Amino acid sequence: MSQQSHDTYAVNLRRLEKHVKPGYHHLYLSLIKGERDLKLADAAQVAEVLGLSLDRFHDAVTQKLFRADSRQTDLLRSPAHKVKEAQPKRMRPTIAPPEGKMGVLLPGMGAVATTVIGGVELIKKGLSQPIGSLSQLGHVRLGKRTDARNPLVQDLVPLAGLDQLVFGGWDIYDSNAYEAARHAAVIDSSLLSQVQNEMSTVQPMSAVFENRFVTRIDGQNKKTAANKMQYAEALMQDIADFKQSNNLSRAVMIWCGSTEIYQRATGSHENLAAFEKGLLQSDPEISPSQIYAYAALKSGVPFANGAPNLTLDFPAMLELAKKMNVPICGKDYKTGQTFMKTLLAPGLKSRLLGLHGWFSTNILGNRDGQVLDDPDSFKTKEVSKLGALEVILQPEEYPVLYKNFDHMVRINYYPPRGDAKEGWDNIDIFGWLGAPMQIKVNFLCRDSILAAPLVLDLALFLDLAQRAGMGGIQEWLSFYFKSPMVVEDLYPEHDIFIQLMKLKNTLRWLAGEELITHLGREYYD
Ligand SMILES: NC(=O)c1ccc[n+]([C@@H]2O[C@H](COP(=O)([O-])OP(=O)(O)OC[C@H]3O[C@@H](n4cnc5c(N)ncnc54)[C@H](O)[C@@H]3O)[C@@H](O)[C@H]2O)c1
Repeated sequence: MSQQSHDTYAVNLRRLEKHVKPGYHHLYLSLIKGERDLKLADAAQVAEVLGLSLDRFHDAVTQKLFRADSRQTDLLRSPAHKVKEAQPKRMRPTIAPPEGKMGVLLPGMGAVATTVIGGVELIKKGLSQPIGSLSQLGHVRLGKRTDARNPLVQDLVPLAGLDQLVFGGWDIYDSNAYEAARHAAVIDSSLLSQVQNEMSTVQPMSAVFENRFVTRIDGQNKKTAANKMQYAEALMQDIADFKQSNNLSRAVMIWCGSTEIYQRATGSHENLAAFEKGLLQSDPEISPSQIYAYAALKSGVPFANGAPNLTLDFPAMLELAKKMNVPICGKDYKTGQTFMKTLLAPGLKSRLLGLHGWFSTNILGNRDGQVLDDPDSFKTKEVSKLGALEVILQPEEYPVLYKNFDHMVRINYYPPRGDAKEGWDNIDIFGWLGAPMQIKVNFLCRDSILAAPLVLDLALFLDLAQRAGMGGIQEWLSFYFKSPMVVEDLYPEHDIFIQLMKLKNTLRWLAGEELITHLGREYYD
């Protein structure tokens, strides 16, 4: 059959870009041009946006019936025309001092949250060290390499001290933080017993929970209300009461709850008015994590999303964050396997080594693993985990090296391992003359041990951003996330070294210091 006898599908790339995974438009573009295959899950997403059945979409792709407007293609290739990059000389904000106590509110008091709380209490008592925390142990170089100025982050910018933090949170189980930490079995029991008194006073507030979004667990410590707006109001009351009873000057909220099922933004997510109407009408598409985020932002409390859920990154929540001038960031802490991936992939690419495929599998036995055993929750995680390689390797710019590589991720719930996750990566690479090589990574990690310092840093940096009046998405905190939030028209940076440079330059900028470009001509002039 000749091509003329078929329909030709004109693709609205702007629409596609808006509704598919961030940073993926190049991938979809090449798919549409017939230059590349796409995995079923991704193809289904594109088909849905284009309003085609998967079969029809597949036929049209194989017969190369798509037509992309070249002007639109150019626009996608240079989204910078719309995005005003932060100018180094942009006026530096005035930062309010970190006076008084600060609340760290954690929805979900499971393994990660209790490892943070227990860890901070142990560190405060001088019984341990904040290993893994950039805010506590990191240095930032200032000026020339010959200047020997390398202060600690906490000496460069005014961060809250650990003594000023007061922890609180919500959970569907009513165990206090000490009991929950014993259940999670991450912190050694002999260490944990030394902060039993401090942790036992952290009692979870009753949760906003809906089993539809987290199917594998349920508990009794839940609120009841007539509609979702009332749930949000109850959370706002909790925040106000917690601040008052602990004499806090301010608070931040960091989602440490279970991973909710995979969700796409719908009508209620489109703008703030629609979202508030959705809350009043208890729209089934509004998840508990979104209700927490709404309550936080309405209360002027910065919010970070540590899970891959659709919690914040939709227009209604961005509108609210902007309106309240409250910092937000997410999503999904970058810890075990994705952390490794974003270390290795930039290295392979820097040497122009090719990739045939990357297969990742894990065994994990904690409650997070149990929740992820539900395919719909796993789907949320999978989407978050798959994005990084495509964006780092840029297959469209480097087709000889990265066109059509296979990327698979598996997580298997295996109770005997508890929180001690084991991850295997098999990486099939190729070098000079196409010669194949393999890399094997076997990472025996401790999931919550890797996540806890990130939660601490996020709490302190979000508070810093709040005191500096920096509302909206905090892209400089991408360093901490598998799937970083960015403004529309911008793809996220996944390369951990670029992310670190961005974070440190933001700290330099906040401190009124010169940004470091690493050009280094001055040493030779
Ligand atoms: N540990 C890591 O390395 C890591 C990395 C990336 C992301 N995460 C994410 O962080 C989150 C926490 O991980 P974890 O290992 O502590 O899991 P966990 O299962 O030990 O703790 C999650 C807690 O959230 C509670 N919860 C669920 N829904 C809730 C709700 N609506 N309100 C209040 N509480 C609720 C659960 O009862 C549970 O106690 C998970 O979503 C996980 O996917 C963890």
